Amino acid sequence: MSFTMNPFAVLSDTIPAAVMQAYVVVMFLLVVGGTIADMVHKRSAQYFFENAEKAKKARVKNVGGAHKAGIAVQTIAADVLTSAEFCNQRRRVAHLLGMYGFVSFLVATIAMVFFYPSPAMATPAVWPVLWHLGALMVIIGGGWFWFFIRVDVSAEGHPWHRIVRADLFILSLIATNLFGLIWSAAQASGWNAWSSIFLALFILSSLVLFGGVLWSKFAHMFFKPAAAFQKRVAKADGSMDNLPAPADRSNPADRDRHSMELLKDAPLNMGLGIKRERPQHY
Ligand code: HEM
Repeated sequence: MSFTMNPFAVLSDTIPAAVMQAYVVVMFLLVVGGTIADMVHKRSAQYFFENAEKAKKARVKNVGGAHKAGIAVQTIAADVLTSAEFCNQRRRVAHLLGMYGFVSFLVATIAMVFFYPSPAMATPAVWPVLWHLGALMVIIGGGWFWFFIRVDVSAEGHPWHRIVRADLFILSLIATNLFGLIWSAAQASGWNAWSSIFLALFILSSLVLFGGVLWSKFAHMFFKPAAAFQKRVAKADGSMDNLPAPADRSNPADRDRHSMELLKDAPLNMGLGIKRERPQHY
């Protein structure tokens, strides 16, 4: 396999570039349609805005525009770009591999299909390299997640091969990248029959990935940043998602609360508690 070869340019001998471009546009429209249908079906946008209104009423501090802009920057820099919401570092690294891999794979696909779709146009090596490397990162990060980190396997003890509907996203994501990579290798080696089979599997799995948004976790990549932003705002304005502030027993008002009675005379530092066992769930 050559990491510097544009597989779509080679494919243009059998499938016209316009057909490939139309396919990518249809996939994009499926994602937009699926995300909107998901929001309507789960009424998640309505819940989100109603919840934000409720939080506004419960806030104890006003968070101004400049502060909110700062929170948005923090959300992008930490929660989006470095997957900071994950407490478990293995999950975080696997997510980063999958996320950056998928973004590289997507951007490189668009660049190659729309701007360099024929062997007559010299494709800058950066695009095929990003495409192959991106696919490899998704396979490694996604495979690590699927075989070892997934809650069903790591915490609930189910075998790795047990499949439920919630696996639609991760499985179609890995399949699209894996079949794409094998198709590219088979095509570069001139194994025409294998290349046709894996091209068909690549098309089928990408159709499931992009067409299955309504039933899969695909849209979390759009919703999670908004939720992470709202979570930070709720902390900053004191509305705290309707949760009580963390109890501080050095504060007499907290210490003397009825629910704290049993802890009144307990030492302030009570050791590791549940942190004694290394958290491996989530
Ligand atoms: C290209 C973009 C992305 C890809 C490929 C991706 C991939 C994944 C995968 C495979 C999972 C595991 C899902 C499962 O349980 O089956 C996951 C979970 C998660 N992702 Fe992403 N993700 C992306 C973008 C994002 C972004 C932008 C955020 C946040 C700002 C995010 C936050 C999360 C969180 C918090 C979880 C775990 C919690 C949960 O399962 O609900 N992801 N992601």
